[in-house]
Amino acid sequence: MREELEKLKTKALAELEAIDGEEDLEEWRIAYLGRKGAITSFLRGLVSLPLEERRALGALANEMKSLLEKRFAETEKALKAAEAARLAEKGRIDVTLPGRPVPLGRLHPATQMIREICAAFTSMGFRVVEGPDVEWDYYSFEALNIPKGHPARDMWNTLWIDYQTEDGERPMLLRPHTSPMQIRVMEKTRPPVRVVVPGRCYRYEATDATHESAFFQVEGLAVDDGITFANMKGTLYEFARRIFGAERKARFRCDYFPFVEPGVEMAIDCFACGGKGCRICKESGWIEIMGAGMVHPGVLERVGYDSSIYTGFAFGLGVERMAMLKYGIEDIRLFYSNDMRFLRQF
Ligand code: DAH
Repeated sequence: MREELEKLKTKALAELEAIDGEEDLEEWRIAYLGRKGAITSFLRGLVSLPLEERRALGALANEMKSLLEKRFAETEKALKAAEAARLAEKGRIDVTLPGRPVPLGRLHPATQMIREICAAFTSMGFRVVEGPDVEWDYYSFEALNIPKGHPARDMWNTLWIDYQTEDGERPMLLRPHTSPMQIRVMEKTRPPVRVVVPGRCYRYEATDATHESAFFQVEGLAVDDGITFANMKGTLYEFARRIFGAERKARFRCDYFPFVEPGVEMAIDCFACGGKGCRICKESGWIEIMGAGMVHPGVLERVGYDSSIYTGFAFGLGVERMAMLKYGIEDIRLFYSNDMRFLRQF
């Protein structure tokens, strides 16, 4: 029996030596040290022996049991350490590798253009204000000399809000231009007024290379005692030179907008071809950049300004159009299709 015990020990230790995983180790523990393991059954087998022998072999077996327990604990510790080392190696950070670039955000080209336009005007004493996208008919049309049923309303393909008054009228809309802010600003302040108003506008319109149903405008308004058409030309001319280059020439021709009199369309000589005629200016040498005019006396009187004292000019321009001209962008839809190849260029 002594021999049997010796063999058991040699076998157990040899097997333990070969173990390299925690699962195998657990199996080993159950086989030798477990409740139904080899040592327990050996001890059970001693019952039938005479007392002397039982004592001696029992002591021997228990000695062996503690040896195996000790070896087991050592092996378990070694395996855990090896596993920890392996994980550490796997997750190691190589600090000598070059860093991965962090993608930086940037301002949308329309936002950049708005800021550039507003900066040109604030440097000439204008203040920047903003107004609501959802507007009343009154501010968008009525107060701007465009009464209900007037054919001039056709100039703005309007998106109406589905809201009706008791008498069945729909007075609420998505502003088709930023001009309503002229009225809101004048209602709240007395002259001198000098504001620019950037904002999103909406039109019920099919989308194509030059039309979007949502786009930005910047509106401008200056009202004071003694403002003249020459002041308007000077201001807008200065603006055009800042955005499109100091050598720009400007041209003002008659145009019709119900809230100004006279109304004009402003054009600059083509910065791409210098006026010879090219694709950008459609071979005309001139590029229209905005509508403008002297504020109509009816508009001034409606907000309680005395039109025999006060005069002013107003203008409105399309932000995306400005950026398209400046950067040679051929399709307005590029602004709002979230194509990073386009957006990353600005
Ligand atoms: N609101 C006009 C439009 O959207 C643009 C415009 C023209 C604004 C003349 C003005 C102006 O302030 O004086 O077509």
